[in-house]
Amino acid sequence: MKLDKILGIEYPIIQGGMAHISDGKFAAKVSEAGALGVIGSGSMNGEELKKQIQICKSLTRKPFGVNLLLLNPHIDQMAEIVIEEKVPVITTGAGSPSKYIDSWHKANIKIFPVVPNPTLAMRMEKYGVDGVIVEGNEAGGHIGDMTSMTLIPQTKDRVSIPIIAAGGIASGRQMLAAKVLGATGVQIGTLFLSSTECPIHEEYKNLLIKSKYNNITIIGNTTGLPMRLIKNNMVRDYIKEEKQGKDKMELEKYTLGALKLAVELGDLKKGSFMAGLTLTQIEDIKPIKEIIEGLMKEYEEELEKIYYEIEDKE
Ligand SMILES: Cc1cc2nc3c(=O)[nH]c(=O)nc-3n(C[C@H](O)[C@H](O)[C@H](O)COP(=O)(O)O)c2cc1C
Repeated sequence: MKLDKILGIEYPIIQGGMAHISDGKFAAKVSEAGALGVIGSGSMNGEELKKQIQICKSLTRKPFGVNLLLLNPHIDQMAEIVIEEKVPVITTGAGSPSKYIDSWHKANIKIFPVVPNPTLAMRMEKYGVDGVIVEGNEAGGHIGDMTSMTLIPQTKDRVSIPIIAAGGIASGRQMLAAKVLGATGVQIGTLFLSSTECPIHEEYKNLLIKSKYNNITIIGNTTGLPMRLIKNNMVRDYIKEEKQGKDKMELEKYTLGALKLAVELGDLKKGSFMAGLTLTQIEDIKPIKEIIEGLMKEYEEELEKIYYEIEDKE
């Protein structure tokens, strides 16, 4: 994997930006541990973003990134702030970054949009981005239709820029599989939620440990904004009303502000506890450094096993 060389980091791993969760302090800790920490700015305004970038820079001299949601009403101001603050890497979601690409590149910022299908990856390549993060449907949070197993190779066959795989990766074996399918590195969200340093409520962390794949579901298929999360009262009520044909506006009463309720208050009934299908692989809460080193150790061991299997046959 070469993402480490492209970004000037130790390991080919990006911590996925997570709104309400990955603040400047958390991103700095991930970067200090050798991956790329990313500030999730989805719920911020320009002033808050500037503050979090400055906190991050005060805690690490290593590269870090900012995840910008292009539907954010403050996006034009935020696009300027990342230039002023000399942010090295930007990941984008929820829209097209095309109008900002020239000015970000002039400021030496590397740009990696998150895309859910090969068609959008091809469009991003035309815009001149530095690579694409292809996010499979196994991921936590808002999701597309394609699985990583189909999305990574189909994108690899269609673009020549670097591909970073996201969705369903929480082990060295899965990292190696992503490499074989065509990825140059990985982006991980759910596994980083389970780190000691992750600033989410203890109840959220307890749920991550306790829950298995059959506790996870998808809501919002009918609204065009599907989301993968852990089942609770809010999710059950949402699904009931979704089946009754309630529209997007009516269903929003459940999800609006619900991630904040989960993250800050650990509200088990009303919170939105987003998590991906790797949840079943999470057995305990570990420091970021241990998580990253564990991933890399397993990756190297699995690679070696395959190498020796091939040697044996010759
Ligand atoms: C709680 C949570 C919040 C997320 N918030 C965002 C976000 O604000 N912006 C974004 O682009 N992706 C967001 N994601 C997606 C992650 O950045 C990442 O791509 C994804 O989690 C990778 O899949 P995994 O969960 O299987 O590791 C979120 C994911 C989770 C679990």
